[in-house]
Amino acid sequence: MAKIIDGKAVSQSVKDRVKAEVEKLRESGIEVGLAVVIVGNNQASRVYVNNKKKACEACSINSYEYALPEETTQEELLALVDKLNADDKVDGILVQLPLPKQIDEHAVIARISAAKDVDAFHAENVGKIMIGDYNFLPCTPAGVMELIHSTGVSVEGKDCVVIGRSNIVGKPMAMLLLHESGTVTICHSRTQNLAEKCRNADILVAAVGKADFVTADMVKEGAVVIDVGMNRNAEGKLCGDVRYDEVEKKAGYITPVPGGVGPMTIAMLMQNTLTAAKTKHNID
Ligand code: GUN
Repeated sequence: MAKIIDGKAVSQSVKDRVKAEVEKLRESGIEVGLAVVIVGNNQASRVYVNNKKKACEACSINSYEYALPEETTQEELLALVDKLNADDKVDGILVQLPLPKQIDEHAVIARISAAKDVDAFHAENVGKIMIGDYNFLPCTPAGVMELIHSTGVSVEGKDCVVIGRSNIVGKPMAMLLLHESGTVTICHSRTQNLAEKCRNADILVAAVGKADFVTADMVKEGAVVIDVGMNRNAEGKLCGDVRYDEVEKKAGYITPVPGGVGPMTIAMLMQNTLTAAKTKHNID
């Protein structure tokens, strides 16, 4: 039976640490602020944005929400980004993705000041991650690393398999595992013998976006299994990419969904917002 990695508990300790630091900054007259921008009526995005606002409250970070209508033009959104880049109250800017189809996500991300890019999606921050000289780590991969650290299992020398090659999760995830000297394989929709490659993994990170994709036969006995998936099954219930009921009998450690990676992503966003504020004020 796998040990369950408690994302709620690990994320709480990250948020407690952030809150203590934010309150210390406040005593010296420094406020920390996050601007959250949501465009349109995507239900899932609304839930994520609400959770981010709640986390800000819990960490004593000031949050500023900008909810724009579905028909917002790219120029209007870019104008808001420019305004937030120049706003001294705003240390971090998060534009919730996906955006409506008339807006080019890449253009919007490129416009966010790299110093306020708390998602670490801007090309400058992505490049810094590649060379290992970074200020912000992307929230979900950074949260996954915290969860792996919480198991006490070292990444060094281990065979790590990441399923999924998105810019938000798969690619940076592979890079962070590599920074800790893992031997990393990225699998994706065109990968041959995917199950066999996964079976070789000491650390398996599933970021596919398909319910029940990872089955027990794809998992090595005793492996650390991290489930980044957030899917709805046929009954509308939230579930991950991993067949939890069978994989937990074989893995050494496993994250549940919900209560695994999800809360960590938000906790790391809080940490990045604090980092942005400290960097602005030249505080270590
Ligand atoms: N949509 C889904 N995940 C994320 C995320 O981490 N950041 C942003 N900005 N949008 C998202």
